[in-house]
Amino acid sequence: MPKLRIMRKALSSLFSEEELKKAITSIDIIGDIAIIKIPREWENKKYEIGEALLSHLGGVKGVFRQISPASGEYKVRGIEWLAGKKDTVTIHKEHNCLFKVDISKVFFSPRLSFERLRIAKLVKKGEIVVNMFAGVGTFSILIAKSGAQKVYSIDKNPYAFELMCENIKLNKLEGIVIPILGDAKDVVKDLKGIADRVLLPFPELAIEYLPYAIECLKEQGWLHVYLHQKANNRKEAIEEAKKLLKDFNIINERVVRSVGKKLYQVVLDIEIRKNAKST
Ligand SMILES: C[S@@+](CC[C@H](N)C(=O)[O-])C[C@H]1O[C@@H](n2cnc3c(N)ncnc32)[C@H](O)[C@@H]1O
Repeated sequence: MPKLRIMRKALSSLFSEEELKKAITSIDIIGDIAIIKIPREWENKKYEIGEALLSHLGGVKGVFRQISPASGEYKVRGIEWLAGKKDTVTIHKEHNCLFKVDISKVFFSPRLSFERLRIAKLVKKGEIVVNMFAGVGTFSILIAKSGAQKVYSIDKNPYAFELMCENIKLNKLEGIVIPILGDAKDVVKDLKGIADRVLLPFPELAIEYLPYAIECLKEQGWLHVYLHQKANNRKEAIEEAKKLLKDFNIINERVVRSVGKKLYQVVLDIEIRKNAKST
């Protein structure tokens, strides 16, 4: 049964069907932790909600409520404990990879699962890849498993870096995924002209850091640029995002996910040929 239906069923003794349909619209399961959003007016029932979900969601050992969206430099969401285990560390399984995550200290979204696999499938054996905003190493690890020769995996958040190092070991990718702690624009000064592919999975900095990403590329290479785009619908989001990078050779584009009301995450796959007249 889909997770939202299980959630609504679990809470059916506390709220009406109509209330549940309106208020229960999302759940993230990360390892053995569930993160839900509940409306403010349900505040006095939050622990009951947590307990009800704990007993209905198989494999879930802790329930947290998201109290603020992923934000700030490190894109960490605000959370509040509701039921079960209080430990915010868990191990998430995805596409035969293991990701150790601390939901209170780093960014992690299970909703990017399809996108991570999509990028990994584009990577050809032997490629050198630079991931400028790597988090706990999600994209980097999948890409390495797909046959990349080296993945330089950069993040500024020391907690994300520490977990990335652990995840590299967990997935037996030492020497292939190279974890680097620092600001991507400083780090890539030492990675000029080496990459077949560069990822910019941080919409807030993608445009600003684009010139540094291009410097990393060999004469020919690929960029994956993630943007947040305000728009009335998905089609418009793509059109507007493409306008921002209209001088580039965009070879593919897609909406990755909806990230708010009339706000979409869009990815543009770009081919760069440095010696061509216009890129
Ligand atoms: C939206 S998260 C994406 C993480 C990862 N790619 C994923 O999908 O799980 C953006 C990441 O960029 C990192 N970050 C923010 N500013 C940075 C910078 N200037 N240089 C390197 N990393 C940065 C944050 O710490 C965060 O982990």
